[in-house]
Amino acid sequence: TAGATGAAGLVLGGAGGAGVYAAATGSGASPDAKALASVGSTAAPFHGEHQAGITTPLQARGHLVAFDLAPGAGRKEAAALLRRWSAAARTMMAGEPFGDTDSGVALDAGPSSLTVTFGFGRTFFARTGLNSRRPAALDPLPDFSSDHLDARRSNGDLWVQIGADDALVAFHALRTIQREAGDAARVRWQMNGFNRSPGATAQPMTARNLMGQIDGTGNPKPSDADFDQRIFVPADGGAEGPEWMAGGSYAVVRRIRMLLDDWEKLARGEQEKVIGRKKSDGAPLTGGSETTELDLDKTGPDGKLVIPSNAHARISAPEQNGGAAMLRRPFSYHDGIGADGTPDAGLLFICWQADPLRGFVPVQRKLDRGDALSPFIRHEASGLFAVPGGARDGEYVGQRLLE
Ligand code: HEM
Repeated sequence: TAGATGAAGLVLGGAGGAGVYAAATGSGASPDAKALASVGSTAAPFHGEHQAGITTPLQARGHLVAFDLAPGAGRKEAAALLRRWSAAARTMMAGEPFGDTDSGVALDAGPSSLTVTFGFGRTFFARTGLNSRRPAALDPLPDFSSDHLDARRSNGDLWVQIGADDALVAFHALRTIQREAGDAARVRWQMNGFNRSPGATAQPMTARNLMGQIDGTGNPKPSDADFDQRIFVPADGGAEGPEWMAGGSYAVVRRIRMLLDDWEKLARGEQEKVIGRKKSDGAPLTGGSETTELDLDKTGPDGKLVIPSNAHARISAPEQNGGAAMLRRPFSYHDGIGADGTPDAGLLFICWQADPLRGFVPVQRKLDRGDALSPFIRHEASGLFAVPGGARDGEYVGQRLLE
């Protein structure tokens, strides 16, 4: 169900659905003062079956931050930390300052669709004496031949995803989460991302990435009959288990650098063959509109496949992977231009699934063996996190594990 969506009831999805800013305007109308004000006044609910920030429409700003528990901190300190963090998230997501020492950075702004989402990494369980309750789904991801991973910017005991439609609201949440970590946890790595600003396009559209492609079309939709089954651990824990993960999901986080100088040298037609879709509107090269299915068997006058055998959209399609599917909900990033003149830019690729072994892993394995996109990207960091279900009234996130 779409139960975890923002207050505006809008969800991430493909064509026509994924209104990043539909939440703000409610229509495709040109922004007026009222519509712009509603960017700020839109709130995502903290309590619910699922944590916010999974099916919530993409926000304009994102911060990802991983923490390691401090030496000497164990289960008790972790429980107190999650209790503090949950209180901070609930308060800030309602647009309120948090605590007596609030920095004031978010004053004047409304909630701005802020979401704060918490996850546990594999190493958390040994540190807290909870190894027996560690889900098998947190077993390390396999190595991929194209990996160039920086261990210092990968994994971590705890992970927090922050998204908001206002940069100051997002920064305020990041600083508050860091402050509330206190002596219990230290930042391991931190990354900043962005998406389109609400109202930037005349109509709600699927987002574009920094290669200029429409990205998100093939995502499962909350209206699909099997959406919950693919994305969330069942209410009874189910086969994926464990029970404390009921309503939760597993996040795979990959910092994927785009080699934009190389990519931009390709003619548009070549770029389109790499994906198998048109850049202008995301339609398959076999015709139709963005929502038309790919015709994977269609050949051109030269007898060759119209969507090449190594096209990214072909290789990653669920039909080609035994139904493996995930909800991709990324942020773009740009961290400046290096001494060699190349931008440190790409995708903070975040995908959500009930089980990484039936989502990310088989698809990435296949992409690793021959995706036409591979020469233009580099996976630089990786994380896998168990994101528990949403907190019920009076509960904090992760309470069912930590108490
Ligand atoms: C589809 C771009 C990495 C899985 C697509 C599409 C684009 C795209 C443009 C077609 C539109 C759409 O359906 O969203 C990229 C870029 C990447 C990247 C630029 C890296 C910088 C990955 C990775 C995975 C992945 C690492 C998973 C391991 C998928 C899936 C689809 C897809 C599942 C949808 C296929 C379908 O339903 O037909 N990607 N992608 N992508 N990509 Fe990627």
